[in-house]
Amino acid sequence: MTYLQQMTEKISTLRDKKRITILALETSCDETAAAVVRNGREVLSNIISSQIDTHRLYGGVVPEIASRKHVEVISQVVSHALEESNTSMEELDAVAVTYGPGLVGALLVGVSAAKAIAFGLSVPLIGVHHIEGHISANFIEYKELEPPFVCLIVSGGHTQIVHVKDYGEYELIGQTMDDAAGEAFDKVARVLGLGYPGGPAVDRIAKEGNPAAISFPRVHLREKPYDFSFSGLKTAVINYLHNLEQRGESYCLEDVAASFQQAVVDVLVEKTIDAALKLNQKRIVMAGGVAANSALKRQMEAEAEKRQIQLYYPTPVLCTDNAAMIACAGYYRLLQGEISPLSLNAVPYLPITQIQ
Ligand code: KG4
Ligand code: ZN
Repeated sequence: MTYLQQMTEKISTLRDKKRITILALETSCDETAAAVVRNGREVLSNIISSQIDTHRLYGGVVPEIASRKHVEVISQVVSHALEESNTSMEELDAVAVTYGPGLVGALLVGVSAAKAIAFGLSVPLIGVHHIEGHISANFIEYKELEPPFVCLIVSGGHTQIVHVKDYGEYELIGQTMDDAAGEAFDKVARVLGLGYPGGPAVDRIAKEGNPAAISFPRVHLREKPYDFSFSGLKTAVINYLHNLEQRGESYCLEDVAASFQQAVVDVLVEKTIDAALKLNQKRIVMAGGVAANSALKRQMEAEAEKRQIQLYYPTPVLCTDNAAMIACAGYYRLLQGEISPLSLNAVPYLPITQIQ
């Protein structure tokens, strides 16, 4: 009998268990993360070892360095997650891991470690889509939250509106045609000299500025009402700064940050609300690093309330990359009998609608 056949048999006994404990690993970008989660939503430990200080020296994530750093710390991060949760290896019922999308070398570190642990313990391995993980962070935050809902996913690599019809069932409503929202924050922060990662810095500085000071473009694509485009906005900010520079004039950093942020927030809020109304959904969920943005949360909250739509978003630590969200997504995959073979590979490009 193959490993996959043995594990498939094991799932029926697992389903009868009152407590299913999952170890999850996440290494898709620049955080090495491991978490132990019980029954999908109870976080026993959530360890995140960030590489940001290293990548900051280069102004962004250097893929080769990211892979090496993951290799250096993955064992300690896993041990730490087990210790902090007071869980022994033998108590683990399954191992979940992000297998895509992300940096291929970085993903491979988590995938290889997860395979080794799952095989060694003879427990199921569950490959998890990174974005499905981000969405699932909300199930940890809100114990009562169930699909269906409309989800705005805004991270460093993705900007999408997804109709979450059920656990693991997604319809893509709209996405960015070019830069992701987080990427726009990072690039604009860079030209403003705010360093990496830019989102939190822009968020902080924008609080002191006037969001109506400069009129940056809001892109609406006529044929695709739910799609986004942020590269023109980034160029508009760069041109604005260059023009002033050429005239020898200075600019107000706070006003530029606030006006740029307002342009991003306006389109994210408008399109997400429109999608929820069109799909007749009374719940909007936000996920990904940019969901931690204070202006986005405030404006989405206000606009949702006007239309009696309930808004959900995770606390900042669950918005950005972590392994607890991967364990949660893995739990629902496991319940549906969707486990992975030991031949599971890292997949750098992986659309959300092609998870199964
Ligand atoms: O979800 P995440 O941790 O990683 C990816 O999967 O990409 O998102 C990271 C992104 C970065 O672009 C970062 O600048 C952005 O999220 N971010 C923010 C904030 N916190 C993180 N953007 C705007 N405002 C924030 N408060
Ligand atoms: Zn992410």
